[in-house]
Amino acid sequence: MDPAPSDALVFFGATGDLAYKQIFPALQGLVCDEGLNVPIVGVAKSGWSLEQFRARAKASLEHSRSFNDADFARLVTLLNYVDGDYNDPQTFEQLKQALGPARRPLHYLAIPPALFGAVGSALAASNLNENARIVVEKPFGHDLKSAQALDRTLVQYFPEETIFRIDHYMGKEPVQNIVYTRFANATIEPLWNRQHVRSIQITMAEAFGVSDRGSFYDATGALRDVVQNHLLQLVANLMMEPPSGESHEAIRDQKAALMKAIRPLDAASLVRGQYRGYRAVPGVRPDSPVETYVALKLYVDSWRWAGVPVFIRAGKSLRLTAAEVIVEYEKPPRTVFGEDPSHGYLRVRLSPDVAVAVGLRMKRPGERMIGEDVELMMTEQPGSLTPPYQRLLGDAMRGDSELFGRQDIIEAQWRIVEPILRDPPTCLEYEPGSWGPAAADALLGVYGPWRDPRPPSGA
Ligand code: BG6
Repeated sequence: MDPAPSDALVFFGATGDLAYKQIFPALQGLVCDEGLNVPIVGVAKSGWSLEQFRARAKASLEHSRSFNDADFARLVTLLNYVDGDYNDPQTFEQLKQALGPARRPLHYLAIPPALFGAVGSALAASNLNENARIVVEKPFGHDLKSAQALDRTLVQYFPEETIFRIDHYMGKEPVQNIVYTRFANATIEPLWNRQHVRSIQITMAEAFGVSDRGSFYDATGALRDVVQNHLLQLVANLMMEPPSGESHEAIRDQKAALMKAIRPLDAASLVRGQYRGYRAVPGVRPDSPVETYVALKLYVDSWRWAGVPVFIRAGKSLRLTAAEVIVEYEKPPRTVFGEDPSHGYLRVRLSPDVAVAVGLRMKRPGERMIGEDVELMMTEQPGSLTPPYQRLLGDAMRGDSELFGRQDIIEAQWRIVEPILRDPPTCLEYEPGSWGPAAADALLGVYGPWRDPRPPSGA
């Protein structure tokens, strides 16, 4: 494999929703902030001209409020478009021409996984897999078996080290900051284990429903959409062992080890919910059993984490939009001031704004030794950091795979959720705008209640 940066970026699915919402803004960021200066070729079958494609790029940037004339002018000179069927060899001939002298293209498959095989084999038939990298969008499979089959398809044409399985959560600044802060400080690690940590809660709440993606979502559900990938990756960042050695695979090796130590989920530790009104969304089956909410308890069977429960909940149409992690500490071993001591905690807010805060009990000013729970904000930043797709596509162009999924990690993630996919517990209805089914409260037992994220400041 040529270690040089890719010298062209091809994206399949160029007229689709993901391109509109994420890829064009990421491309403009790469071109204008990071000096990317290579041909960028969109491929799709929409019957569009290059002019229509450029207009779509402009509309996308306007939609994401990142449009300005000067930046767009730089992007547009690099953009090209190939319109054609992914099963037609002619499409790939045109692509070859559009790539001109480029010899190390990166192919980004922002298309349904069912098409990966056709595109992979057509790229290989045109020798466009030589010295190439390939980025594949989630969902990587529908279950363990299909993920393995998908991998077998891809490795026929692309060696493992050239496959970049994207999970945009890994490109989020605060998600990376968890790993950085853990391993760049000597003060956190001694407290980061079963002796000191009582439980971990992760909430990924979204106030919106699935209105514009009913058919995708109804074939997916919350467990597959965000838990199997984004939230388990987050768990890995929070709980993996420190990387050892200098190998560029050191972090992914630790992630894989952590993922393999997570006990497969069991139905008694999981609540599935569906918001009222979901079944009326276009593309959703009128009797759909698919969950738009899931709450679960999991355990990591490792020396460091044995017995520490991790509670995760994620859902659509909830009270507000925010993602947070709370690491709750044990209480002090005895009462000294005649008050029931509280559990200190670390709160990591991932979105929409970014914050790290510590919950402590502190003395109220005055003669008596009486305290109150306070939260010390360690850092607070606005949510507008480098967009994840910009960071990840830039990494893939440079061949840096650290933030991407590896096949063993992906398979371990599927193994964790597989028992629920095979035999899901009944889905409970919940009110839009609530915190989900009440049954999720019982899941926490003595570790409750859920610590609900606050609305973003200014909301
Ligand atoms: C996507 C899911 O992968 O992540 C969506 O398909 C979800 O359902 C989204 O809304 C959340 O990502 P973010 O970055 O908007 O929080």
